[in-house]
Amino acid sequence: MRLYDHNIKAGNQGDLIKHPALMAALSALGEAHAGSEFNYIDLFAGYSINPLLEGNEWQQGIGQIHQTLKAVQNKDLQNYRDWYLSRPALSGGVYPRSALIASDTLSARGITASMTLYDISAPALESLKRCFGGTHHSIVPCPALPEDRAISTSDFIFIDPPGLYSEQNPTFPHLNYLLEFEQRMARPAVMFWLPITGTGETGGETELSQQSVQQLRGAGYQVDKVRWADHQRTVGCIIATRLPASAQQRVSDAIKAVTELTGWQLQYY
Ligand SMILES: C[S@@+](CC[C@H](N)C(=O)[O-])C[C@H]1O[C@@H](n2cnc3c(N)ncnc32)[C@H](O)[C@@H]1O
Repeated sequence: MRLYDHNIKAGNQGDLIKHPALMAALSALGEAHAGSEFNYIDLFAGYSINPLLEGNEWQQGIGQIHQTLKAVQNKDLQNYRDWYLSRPALSGGVYPRSALIASDTLSARGITASMTLYDISAPALESLKRCFGGTHHSIVPCPALPEDRAISTSDFIFIDPPGLYSEQNPTFPHLNYLLEFEQRMARPAVMFWLPITGTGETGGETELSQQSVQQLRGAGYQVDKVRWADHQRTVGCIIATRLPASAQQRVSDAIKAVTELTGWQLQYY
């Protein structure tokens, strides 16, 4: 199985869309859970933190907004910048990943999060254990199954796979399969992050990316799409959400605020 290493990608364009959006969703959902326990599931949790090393992809992502003097009105993007990008120089520091960001966001709302973090990569699991081992959180070293008990009792599922199944990547999951998880939840609250892959010279988008957007929309998801490039392998990403309307709006607002700073192209569906 081809394993995915997020160290090089940490803080890239995808993360700069994904993580403020995750904070927005959890802050909005948190309002309804104030003072109570919240079961957070990360189906593809990754590391707890990554180093930010010179020459890696963060320079095209968080590096683009790190020292901008433009004012940010959006509360979720403001928190993201204040909590994670406040060092004078980013290089040599660390970037937090989704589990830590989720835990921070929920605890800032006074919520006791109980997290179930799935991953299959040894270094990612090691990193999760260093941060969350020995706590009440669960680190699960195998792929999640829709019938897992943690799924049926979850309040929110974050689905951020390394990619979707294709002939080139036969070990990656099918979208159909990932959509099964929400069916096990009492009150579905789900966020997907998926890359938009490009066709190269033509600047178009692969059939796989186009089909996934259509399928998610057909399944009733709100899809916010951002494009930052034309001719790279990954030309953009989508955030697809099934959340209460106010939370979906808050996610869209956070994504819009990022694109206002970066100048990336935003499309809603
Ligand atoms: C895109 S990264 C996750 C990034 C993370 N959610 C974040 O935002 O910080 C995808 C992760 O999925 C893990 N992975 C790949 N296949 C998996 C599977 N079948 N089950 C669980 N995790 C898997 C990889 O090891 C990798 O750490």
